[in-house]
Amino acid sequence: MFIMDTQRKEQDPTLVCTCNDLYIEEIRDAINIGIYDYLEIMQYSDTLLRCGECQPHVEILVKEILATTNKTTD
Ligand code: FES
Repeated sequence: MFIMDTQRKEQDPTLVCTCNDLYIEEIRDAINIGIYDYLEIMQYSDTLLRCGECQPHVEILVKEILATTNKTTD
């Protein structure tokens, strides 16, 4: 059973998903090619859905990154 390692996330703010060692840069790569959905981002990053606790963080990042690039999910 997987749970998020919040201590590792606190130590490294660029780490998003501790179950899969997924970092902000990898999420940015997915968004840059038009992938905005959590599960699709996980698939693109070649990861498996484990605890799912990183979903809110990923969704915030999608919004933040889109806001800085003036793109929308529409
Ligand atoms: S932190 Fe567990 S799936 Fe991302």
